[in-house]
Amino acid sequence: MGQLFTSAATTAFRVTIVLFLLAAAGTGVLAYIWTRAGSSWNIGKPANQPVPFRHDLHSGLLKIDCRYCHSTVERAADAGMPSAQTCMSCHSEVWIGATVLEPVRSSFALSQPIIWTSVHRLPDYVYFHHAAHVTKGVACETCHGRVDRMPRTVKTETLSMGWCLDCHRDPVPQLRPRGAVLAMGSGPHAMDLPDDLRVFYREAFQRLTSCNTCHR
Ligand code: HEC
Ligand code: HEC
Ligand code: HEC
Ligand code: HEC
Ligand code: HEC
Repeated sequence: MGQLFTSAATTAFRVTIVLFLLAAAGTGVLAYIWTRAGSSWNIGKPANQPVPFRHDLHSGLLKIDCRYCHSTVERAADAGMPSAQTCMSCHSEVWIGATVLEPVRSSFALSQPIIWTSVHRLPDYVYFHHAAHVTKGVACETCHGRVDRMPRTVKTETLSMGWCLDCHRDPVPQLRPRGAVLAMGSGPHAMDLPDDLRVFYREAFQRLTSCNTCHR
């Protein structure tokens, strides 16, 4: 009885199988990289805003305190967003007629808030609290990056559960003295922190990593 398939056909069949397996493995690897890489977390992607506000100008160059516009960041869960009135305290004097500021002027005239698009938004089932962090020595820069150099505001960290937990397991190396939380470009000062703080966080481990701290 002769061969059912020519040897060329058998080779082609084997090559196809190998290529198929490689493609399947490749897709798996790509999927893994994709979920790990920044792109799926919107890192570095600016949002469309009603006004092209620039932190690099207002925070970097003009050195306006973060709390001037995000006034509840040390007191509440939300950092708070500036009202049109906050902008108008200067923009009734500078850049008065500028077209880019038209939405600010009309919000001000109608006493309506400006609708900013959020760049950082956690799912509703996650509980986050700004004051709990800022008052304990976690700096804006640690979670939001060099905002003072951003022409458009972007995310610099994933804000994933793994990212939160990485710090919650051992926050001490990332902490700054309370007075340096708003500063940009100054690193953590873990070495200057008191020893009892290390003890405190060793004991706080349970609470900071338990599910109902962030899912309540
Ligand atoms: C403490 C004063 C102050 C406050 C408050 C302020 N600005 Fe400004 N802003 C300035 C100054 C000064 C300039 C002009 C800088 C220059 O061109 O030299 C400016 C420029 C701008 C520009 C033009 C930027 C460019 O060059 O493209 C926009 C847009 C703007 N501001 C938006 C806002 C918005 C929105 C708010 C409120 C959230 C705000 N500003 C709050 C002082 C302020
Ligand atoms: C003059 C007002 C002003 C000052 C000062 C200011 N911001 Fe903002 N901030 C805004 C406005 C307006 C937006 C919304 C537009 C945008 O995202 O660029 C914003 C957005 C943000 C966001 C993103 C919010 C979101 O919805 O995800 C972060 C984070 C932030 N600011 C951090 C800071 C930090 C840190 C500082 C101090 C270094 C600072 N801001 C100083 C006006 C200000
Ligand atoms: C431990 C990390 C962390 C620190 C420290 C931190 N933020 Fe945030 N920030 C977040 C997260 C997470 C969100 C998204 C919150 C949400 O969606 O519930 C956010 C959201 C914001 C927003 C959007 C609107 C809002 O009201 O929450 C602003 C503005 C902001 N942060 C400013 C600041 C400023 C200014 C500081 C420093 C004084 C700061 N943040 C410190 C993690 C942090
Ligand atoms: C860089 C370090 C760091 C990161 C990142 C961080 N945290 Fe925290 N978190 C802390 C510290 C420090 C405290 C204060 C603990 C204390 O002393 O009570 C805290 C406290 C909290 C509290 C209050 C706990 C309580 O019992 O009152 C919540 C809720 C919380 N974090 C949620 C989050 C979430 C959600 C994220 C991620 C989106 C996050 N944190 C990211 C360091 C961090
Ligand atoms: C320090 C804060 C923190 C703690 C503690 C925490 N989580 Fe989360 N969790 C988050 C954040 C932030 C997200 C949202 C991430 C995102 O944007 O998809 C999340 C998302 C989730 C999701 C949805 C996952 C997904 O892929 O959509 C589940 C399920 C979850 N957490 C379960 C848990 C369980 C179970 C525990 C306890 C073992 C826990 N979490 C502890 C912060 C936390």
